[in-house]
Amino acid sequence: MKLTLVTRLLLALCLTLLASSLSFSEANDHQLADNAIKRLIKSRSRSKNSPAALPRSFKKIINFNARKEYSPAVRSSIYQPQTGSMEQDKINALPGQPNGIGFNQYAGYVTVDAQAGRALFYYFVESPENSSTNPLVLWLNGGPGCSSFGNGAMTELGPFRVNSDGKTLFQNEYAWNNVANVIFLESPAGVGFSYSNTTSDYDHAGDNSTAADSYTFLVNWLERFPQYKNRDFFITGESYAGHYVPQLADTIVSHNKVANQTIINLKGVAIGNGVLNDPTDEWGAVDFYWSHALISDESYKGIHTYCDFTSENSTEQCDKFLSQSSDEIGDIFGYNIYAPFCNGTGTQGNPSGSVNEFDPCSRDYVNTYLNSPQVQTALHVNPTKWSSCSAIGWTDSPPTVLPLIKDLMANGIRVWIYSGDIDGVVPITSTRYSISSLNLPIKTPWYPWYINANEVGGYVEGYEGLTFVTVRGAGHFVPSYQPKRALVMIASFLQGILPPSES
Ligand SMILES: *[C@@H]1O[C@H](CO)[C@@H](O)[C@H](O)[C@H]1NC(C)=O
Ligand SMILES: *[C@@H]1O[C@H](CO)[C@@H](O)[C@H](O)[C@H]1NC(C)=O
Ligand SMILES: *[C@@H]1O[C@H](CO)[C@@H](O)[C@H](O)[C@H]1NC(C)=O
Ligand SMILES: *[C@@H]1O[C@H](CO)[C@@H](O)[C@H](O)[C@H]1NC(C)=O
Ligand SMILES: *[C@@H]1O[C@H](CO)[C@@H](O)[C@H](O)[C@H]1NC(C)=O
Ligand SMILES: *[C@@H]1O[C@H](CO)[C@@H](O)[C@H](O)[C@H]1NC(C)=O
Repeated sequence: MKLTLVTRLLLALCLTLLASSLSFSEANDHQLADNAIKRLIKSRSRSKNSPAALPRSFKKIINFNARKEYSPAVRSSIYQPQTGSMEQDKINALPGQPNGIGFNQYAGYVTVDAQAGRALFYYFVESPENSSTNPLVLWLNGGPGCSSFGNGAMTELGPFRVNSDGKTLFQNEYAWNNVANVIFLESPAGVGFSYSNTTSDYDHAGDNSTAADSYTFLVNWLERFPQYKNRDFFITGESYAGHYVPQLADTIVSHNKVANQTIINLKGVAIGNGVLNDPTDEWGAVDFYWSHALISDESYKGIHTYCDFTSENSTEQCDKFLSQSSDEIGDIFGYNIYAPFCNGTGTQGNPSGSVNEFDPCSRDYVNTYLNSPQVQTALHVNPTKWSSCSAIGWTDSPPTVLPLIKDLMANGIRVWIYSGDIDGVVPITSTRYSISSLNLPIKTPWYPWYINANEVGGYVEGYEGLTFVTVRGAGHFVPSYQPKRALVMIASFLQGILPPSES
């Protein structure tokens, strides 16, 4: 039974948001997240790795005994009967949106399994300018179980953010649809607005079926939006989407090969603060905590002496030092170690949103907004209790996706791995250790990149076949904390050029 540090941290968010839907005050989300981290670390040491001692909600999410290999699924019936159409999916206006927006928005369901009654929800925004030539980008949030619409679109890179009144929206001038037509996909079924009429589907989702369903989604979505069929296509995502992105990309490449034609014109992938490889992810987290003055020398040395993150089993001494570290860290928001907690009582009367200053209570506002019946009607969804993250049973989650990354590189797919450098959940050190383990030749040596006069946006290192980019001062949710830097970074990625070396 292996319970990884990183997975514990990632799942903490899910647990938290679940807890809030079970009527804890939503203002406490982030505090709860940290308590959850502690509970998990302590339950680990108490339990001596016995799954039975884990909190029940935790076990529901991932079955750690099933760390099977992912294998691309070639499904015979990719084309599923659909009831939706582009015209029906067009959004007239989202309630409370600002006046005079100059782009089209769509939302609806794509059936991925008609027999099971399984459908995935998407939100699609076109570019205000050049939408007929700009690339098509898919965005995926992780979890597993977290919504790409509520998180990705409404708090990170989408065109709107929700004001503190929970009713009105303000524009994100650094939205990624300035440079691409962006699909936000809620995946797998059971997440966000995506659902299955066969509810047992929720008990055995996993990496494998998520990639297969997302692939079926894309093929059927392109039938609904045929003008995008040959468009340059890119997959982007963060966190646990470090698994989803390469797995979906690999599925696309495999299907194109089997069909001997370009069914989907995949050009590249960009992964932010992604879960890539368990042992390096975990060592990177430990080293990040120490180098950012969050844990003591004693704990750091203890972990390095007694822990072996490549082993299935932990030892009592290792658990002791992990648990001690967790106490030493105290109550901080792990996803941005310098950010304040949400200190409020949910939505407030006075809308005052600004994209330049991320409001730590944003998730509460989104939760209020997306649970409004008017908003759900405008989005063409069945009336639902929407949650930011959901508990779904997880059957397979391989410990590494690095072999898939290598495969994509070998197939000429552009691979960018970016990282916000103040994230404590999948920290920059984790990403660096993972990339380093690939032993790639350096093509463009490390340099600072700039967004405007004298402001370093982050750092770049170009390897043969892979580009590593940091975003300075960003947490786990890079576009939330550094929206302008994130846009410059992704625009460079889409153009296939390195971020600007001078202003
Ligand atoms: C992945 O899914 C396909 C079909 O959906 C199945 O044939 C294959 O066995 C699955 N692989 C794993 C590792 O579960
Ligand atoms: C799920 O069931 C509802 C109610 O019967 C039906 O309207 C809907 O079309 C079904 N969804 C799918 C994807 O088949
Ligand atoms: C749209 O495309 C034209 C021609 O390539 C270019 O000059 C213009 O800057 C583009 N607009 C935006 C917003 O990217
Ligand atoms: C694949 O397609 C190319 C041209 O599109 C064709 O020349 C070739 O014979 C095809 N290969 C197979 C195995 O069908
Ligand atoms: C882990 O512990 C179990 C039970 O003590 C043991 O059967 C198994 O061999 C151990 N695995 C490793 C990799 O040491
Ligand atoms: C917010 O913080 C202030 C000062 O730190 C504190 O007095 C207040 O009780 C907090 N409010 C809530 C709702 O936690």
